[in-house]
Amino acid sequence: MTELDKIRVAVDYLRIKVSTQFKVGVVLGSGLGSFTDGIEVTAEIPYKEIPYFPVSTVEGHSGKLIFGKLGKVDLVVLSGRFHYYEGYTPAEVVFPIRVLKLLGVSQLFLSNAAGGVHPNFKVGDLMIIRDHISFAIQNPLLGKNMDEFGPRFPDMSEPYAKWLIDRACSIGKELDIDLKQGVYFGVTGPTFETRSEYKMIKFVGADAVGMSTVQEVIVAVHCGMEVFAMSVITDLGIRDEENAITHQEVLDAANEAAPKLTAVFKKMIENL
Ligand code: HPA
Repeated sequence: MTELDKIRVAVDYLRIKVSTQFKVGVVLGSGLGSFTDGIEVTAEIPYKEIPYFPVSTVEGHSGKLIFGKLGKVDLVVLSGRFHYYEGYTPAEVVFPIRVLKLLGVSQLFLSNAAGGVHPNFKVGDLMIIRDHISFAIQNPLLGKNMDEFGPRFPDMSEPYAKWLIDRACSIGKELDIDLKQGVYFGVTGPTFETRSEYKMIKFVGADAVGMSTVQEVIVAVHCGMEVFAMSVITDLGIRDEENAITHQEVLDAANEAAPKLTAVFKKMIENL
């Protein structure tokens, strides 16, 4: 069975349960699950029930597709995502994104926890991802191109839709939420970076570093979606004092910043 067949089987299964065309997809990162509290949920389907869908294992990720409405907008939320460091292949990491595409999604919103390397960033800051650097991860489009989704050599000059970034900035002002902007450097993890690696990441022009998002964004852009992504800065890679970083610290900071991120995502989506 080809990858495309698997995606189609998963979508056929979901289509028995939900018939709407969903315009917006949302991918929630570590500690950011509270986004779903305010949406009018019409269906919830655990990943493990969906044929060929990977199942998430990380603490803080619940693992289900949530279908619903926010204002007038029909949306699908991936509550729980798949990381390359868990041992999933890049094809598995991006499987849900292609499922969303076939469910009608044309705008994808992603969130993540990231380590800050920009000297002005503080723990708890929100950073709109303006661009990314993907060289340290495995490109999910390696191998035979899936022509049904997009071209062999996709353009990446504006992976994050400029108009969505502008919209987020005005909403930030309206809600009095400070939003930074920056470049996200994708790594595989699961190790946090060494001090020298954080310095290198800053040196090559990035502002934050994290273990998710980039593979999903590449595939979303490949299949023609408009993408918006935001990081919660959960730790600082470059600091003078003791530099140990724990997963708990990352989750705590993400939980604390979640209400701000949620407010921005909701307002953006409601007004689409
Ligand atoms: N590095 C990589 N990934 C991360 C970090 C970090 O410092 N913080 C949260 N995710």
